[in-house]
Amino acid sequence: MICTAVIATSLDGFIARLDGGLDWLSSVEAEGQDYGFAAFMKTVDALVMGRKTFEIVRDFPEWPYGEKTVAVLTQDPLTLLQPLPKPVIVLPPDPEAVIAHFADQGAKHLYIDGGQTIRGFLACGHLNRLIISRIPILLGQGIPLFGSLPADIRLQHTETVSFPSGLVQSTYEVLTQPDVEL
Ligand SMILES: NC(=O)c1ccc[n+]([C@@H]2O[C@H](COP(=O)([O-])OP(=O)(O)OC[C@H]3O[C@@H](n4cnc5c(N)ncnc54)[C@H](OP(=O)(O)O)[C@@H]3O)[C@@H](O)[C@H]2O)c1
Repeated sequence: MICTAVIATSLDGFIARLDGGLDWLSSVEAEGQDYGFAAFMKTVDALVMGRKTFEIVRDFPEWPYGEKTVAVLTQDPLTLLQPLPKPVIVLPPDPEAVIAHFADQGAKHLYIDGGQTIRGFLACGHLNRLIISRIPILLGQGIPLFGSLPADIRLQHTETVSFPSGLVQSTYEVLTQPDVEL
């Protein structure tokens, strides 16, 4: 199973304002430019997102993920407002169990979304690739993408693309063996 996180951050590393606000992402919205999102989605079998991200996404005017299964991770499924959108399933926040669930369904590529969720997959060595779109803005405070770790995680940079809007998109492979020499 390949697990890829695709996420936008401010230049100072935040994925949302403290209140969850994403208004600052509109500074890079451009007609006909999705920064590779549709092409990436074609490679994905299912999505895995934290409960907090799901609670934002479910209020979007349009459900962005078509018919693809979306697994929402929560320790307390009863707190989720019903009814859930049709392709949504609820799983406990255990990356190994999540991967086993989707492997049984024949999935090969999962899109991992949400800060805590991405950190959880990273911390147990189950995140393979990070695609980070840096937005040219400093927020000063907000919800961070990264946090403390039990040990260093080494990454291999594979590509960076910059766009006229100022968005800079970098792709990293996660090196799961800490002593790998680059
Ligand atoms: N900039 C972007 O591209 C982007 C992308 C996605 C999301 N966002 C924003 O990011 C914010 C949400 O991110 P977030 O980091 O706060 O949360 P998150 O990862 O979306 O959700 C966290 C919740 O998911 C469950 N969970 C996931 N992994 C867990 C783990 N390892 N251990 C325990 N529980 C786990 C828990 O649910 P329970 O509390 O229910 O148990 C936890 O409270 C939202 O404001 C969203 O809009 C931004």
